[in-house]
Amino acid sequence: MKKINITETVLRDANQSLVATRMPFSDFEDILETIDNAGYYSIECWGGATFDSCLRYLNEDPWERLRKIRAKVKKTPLQMLFRGQNILGYRHYPDDVVRKFVAQAAYNGMDIFRLFDAVNDFRNIQVALDEVLKQKAHAQGCICYTTSPIHNLESYAKMGKELENMGVHSLCIKDMAGIMGPQEAYDLVKTLKETIKIPVYVHTHSTTGLGPITYFKAIEAGCDGIDCAISSFGGGTSQPATETMNYSLKQAGYETGLNEKTLKEINDFFRPVKAKYVSSGLLDAFVMGIETDALVYQVPGGMLSNLIAQLKAQNAINKLDEVLEEIPHVRKDLGYPPLVTPMSQMVGVQSTLNVLTGERYKSVTKEVRSYLKGEYGKAPGELNPDLVKQVLGDEKPITTRFADTLEPQFDKVREQLKGIAQSDEDVLSYIAFPQIAEKFFKEREESKAVKVTYSIEKV
Ligand code: CO
Repeated sequence: MKKINITETVLRDANQSLVATRMPFSDFEDILETIDNAGYYSIECWGGATFDSCLRYLNEDPWERLRKIRAKVKKTPLQMLFRGQNILGYRHYPDDVVRKFVAQAAYNGMDIFRLFDAVNDFRNIQVALDEVLKQKAHAQGCICYTTSPIHNLESYAKMGKELENMGVHSLCIKDMAGIMGPQEAYDLVKTLKETIKIPVYVHTHSTTGLGPITYFKAIEAGCDGIDCAISSFGGGTSQPATETMNYSLKQAGYETGLNEKTLKEINDFFRPVKAKYVSSGLLDAFVMGIETDALVYQVPGGMLSNLIAQLKAQNAINKLDEVLEEIPHVRKDLGYPPLVTPMSQMVGVQSTLNVLTGERYKSVTKEVRSYLKGEYGKAPGELNPDLVKQVLGDEKPITTRFADTLEPQFDKVREQLKGIAQSDEDVLSYIAFPQIAEKFFKEREESKAVKVTYSIEKV
């Protein structure tokens, strides 16, 4: 009986895709031990937007969150999403920072590092991968899945071979937009299984409704594991529901290692949490449904909910359709990058600008400029030469790895933060998000001061 590994994403991707990563630790603390006992292959609980969101919105130390999860999840491997040279941010960091981040994450309890680069330029995951291997943790390399005139089975097989040769322990096909159809998944997994020896995982979203059938066909083609979210936080822009996949896989003769009774306990716990988010407006009904437009626009779940939030904030939600229509144009001009962070934000914001200013590229963001300069890596396809000329003029784009141009930063920042940062983890938080980390440190000091006054008064 073949074992299919199931990763639970409720703490990270489901949280990010459904409620913009606003789930505080206190909302899931009491269920962690139960999740640990369910029989999951791993629990995705950190990385992606969780780090940023902890500091920016939840007044939580992301490192502290990781340690608190690790304290309660004693058996199941913890998994994080790591954006290669971007770590968890939106720009490239120097190599010493990438290494230090991996080392501290492993030290604080991380077991599986899912590494990806938005444009599948694997030079950008090389350093993180090397450090994960050094830390004796599990390194999973991703192929960001997208469809375009330049992406096909042959190009994906080449990527798979490249990742295997780099030394990753497993490979993940990352379909962040939920656009991979069942037959595409079958063909792709089959091709990869014939090309490489390492386990192949598939990650998708239910955005377009394809998710569960895509997983099933992927498994029939030999896929070794899938990502699911417990049903109250499954479906829509999140992952296919854990219980549904578990039920159908067991029926077809696969083993999952999951315990149904425990899954029910987990779901019973999260149901009222979801109800709370629905009534506060944090969980928008829009992201819970099936949105087949994504098959045309290729917009990932997280990106769709962010676009809606941004347009609402600018009183321009009536422009959503126009922005969604603009996205494929911008994508083509940028050489068909997969729409995953930070490319999804870059393409989303530029498309919004093109619509709201009423003229394509009247205003070009700093990020698009950097991308055209080659700072994010090599574009998968050809860039629109007119756009390159308009933005760069006579400036020459770079062809080497952008991080090669960056000076080491960690020790310098540690010195600069003496008296403010209380740990190397604080220094890393600061390097990742300087302003919000500084604000967080300040508030942390103030809340300590409040606690001290309180205890003195009590005495
Ligand atoms: Co995802």
